[in-house]
Amino acid sequence: MLSYRENMSQSPKLKILGIAGSPRKDGNTDLLLRQMMAGASNKQTQTKTVILRELSIAPCRHCDGCLKTGKCVQQDDMQWLHTDLREADHIILASPIFFMGVTAQTKAMIDRCQALWVIKHVLKLPVSVPPGKNRRGIFVSVGGTNLKNLFEPSMATVKAWFSTLEVDFAGELTFPGVDEKGAITHHPTALQDAFTLGQELVPGNE
Ligand SMILES: Cc1cc2nc3c(=O)[nH]c(=O)nc-3n(C[C@H](O)[C@H](O)[C@H](O)COP(=O)(O)O)c2cc1C
Repeated sequence: MLSYRENMSQSPKLKILGIAGSPRKDGNTDLLLRQMMAGASNKQTQTKTVILRELSIAPCRHCDGCLKTGKCVQQDDMQWLHTDLREADHIILASPIFFMGVTAQTKAMIDRCQALWVIKHVLKLPVSVPPGKNRRGIFVSVGGTNLKNLFEPSMATVKAWFSTLEVDFAGELTFPGVDEKGAITHHPTALQDAFTLGQELVPGNE
């Protein structure tokens, strides 16, 4: 288990990066992500969970400071998170739905990936380190209501983000009608579904 400021670089193992985007500690998406990471954890993988509410990540200022270099000029936790995002083999993003979108913590992190967008689209360089990896990403979410299309706006955001990161969208695990803290534990299959999806993400677990 890595401490959260330690980068994943050194290990030859498959790097699985989990990102917890809820401001609510031990809430529903935290529980789902924990299960997924447990499912993805085996001898061939190195797992790391980044908890956005514990980090300092300012919103993008659109200062264009990254436009020539692909490096963000703001000095906060996003500097090392960029490295993790570029080096991960697979990424699991967990965020509940807030006003039909991802949480502010999650969106700030996503917007700060504008520097990686510059690397890909302006500098025409690979985002993935090393380049050409078959990176896959999964979106995990819950929302309190049962609204039709509850997850669609967030899904569009997450897919655009994955595309910038050169990560193939490999699926979603979403549960509507889950509102109270811990309510996901009353769902008949959710936690097991999360564990299984984590297992399916990595080889040797099928
Ligand atoms: C600021 C805020 C906005 C929310 N907006 C929505 C929403 O638009 N749609 C919805 O279904 N639930 C909404 N919810 C409910 C949360 O998605 C729900 O409580 C969820 O279980 C929280 O997940 P967590 O325990 O992982 O934080 C909102 C909750 C908060 C605090």
